[in-house]
Amino acid sequence: MSKKKATIITYGCQMNVNETAKMTRLLEGNGYEMTDDIHDSDAVFLNTCTVRGGAAGRIEGKLGNLKTIKNARKTKMIIGVTGCVAQEEKEHILERAPHVDIVIGNQNIAQLPEIMEKILKGEVVHAVLTDKEDELPPRIDANFGDGISASVAINYGCNNFCTYCIVPYVRGRERSVPMEDIVNDVRKYVKKGYKDILLLGQNVNSYGKDFDNSHEINFAKLLDEICQIEGDYWIRYVSPHPKDLTLDVLEVAAKYPEKIARNMHLPVQSGSTNMLKAMNRKYTKEDYLALVDRIKTALPDISLTTDIIVGFPGETEEDFLDTMDIIKKVKYENSYMFMYSVREGTPAATMEGQISEEVKKSRLQRLMEVQNENAKECSLSYVGKTVKVLVEGPSHRNKEKMTGRISANKVVIFEGDSSLKGTFVDVKIVTAKTWTLYGELA
Ligand code: SAH
Ligand code: SF4
Ligand code: F3S
Repeated sequence: MSKKKATIITYGCQMNVNETAKMTRLLEGNGYEMTDDIHDSDAVFLNTCTVRGGAAGRIEGKLGNLKTIKNARKTKMIIGVTGCVAQEEKEHILERAPHVDIVIGNQNIAQLPEIMEKILKGEVVHAVLTDKEDELPPRIDANFGDGISASVAINYGCNNFCTYCIVPYVRGRERSVPMEDIVNDVRKYVKKGYKDILLLGQNVNSYGKDFDNSHEINFAKLLDEICQIEGDYWIRYVSPHPKDLTLDVLEVAAKYPEKIARNMHLPVQSGSTNMLKAMNRKYTKEDYLALVDRIKTALPDISLTTDIIVGFPGETEEDFLDTMDIIKKVKYENSYMFMYSVREGTPAATMEGQISEEVKKSRLQRLMEVQNENAKECSLSYVGKTVKVLVEGPSHRNKEKMTGRISANKVVIFEGDSSLKGTFVDVKIVTAKTWTLYGELA
């Protein structure tokens, strides 16, 4: 008998990517082989994101598509919805899409094999598992596929309640994973040969604040402990919240230049102090710029990236110009720029002064132009330098070339042998485009 097959379609952030890797491991452990082909799958899961408005509607569209496939199939097909839409909508998903078998929230994925078993045996018709919202999920192993990059969740949930954001409502309150467990996970992945370890949390700086011994344990301490692990790897982390980034984190990063990657994703959201206040970000434009100065002084080779929202309710042209100003001043290597999207259930959704789509689009466009200039300038600054590159494998566009990333997370294309995949090499940068560096093995 051929193996059963399963597909997971992943939307959203790195936390979802991490949870997909866990579900992959669980499914494989249960005898499934993973495939990208939904037509050939005995089980299809949508691992969803609800950070922007209208997510549930878009998922419904995709589920309609799966319904057709399910109806045409001769054998049983399990359809599951996981992730943040599942956590938010719970049994309402079944009301609109009764062909869905499983709705499983972020906290409950460990129960996947058991519940699939019950559905296949006919003991259960539909399962909705979305409780335990504020608990620490059980530790489960993950399969990250490429054997190069792995991620480890260090804390779950968020207590910040930025007024535009749904995450605190779907991911629950902040809770940290015991330091020992994180260090053991990192050690395990390093031992298996992973070279790039991403630490995950909605606000990594909050790490340990919920512990009884929180005066001894914090994010800086965790980084320091991890860096004691012997091996050839680097650590990245997303995201630190600007209001909580402390000097000790910069000190640890300075202490381990080889182990802690020279990239920091520091979401600014807006350059206007008025907007930051309305967003409940708890820092001003000046606070943020002073923080960037401190970071650049402590870590002169750091590359900064950010998230920005344009068109938040009440944003005036003047507010927007403050955002333009901040991206010019900080010179981010990359920015993830979003038009404000109304998220029902958040305070900003009912604020006065909602901005028209047209204005949002035009502001986004103007911002992108400046950001592209910055990115190009940053890329060109690498020309002539020799950089350490983690080789990811043959380039998609040109199989003759290899692609990899530097510690600052920029893509590098160079001529090399595919046996270099998963190793660190030194590459001399010869030319650069906005988003990509081109070089030769040094
Ligand atoms: N915890 C992370 C962000 C998680 S959400 C942090 O604080 O850095 C990822 C990004 O989505 C946010 O940084 C924000 O820029 C964007 N985002 C969140 N809600 C949004 C909304 N309603 N409209 C537009 N963008 C939004
Ligand atoms: Fe959302 Fe703000 Fe929490 Fe990030 S810090 S997840 S933007 S509420
Ligand atoms: Fe989306 Fe949930 Fe992440 S809403 S951004 S997948 S935490």
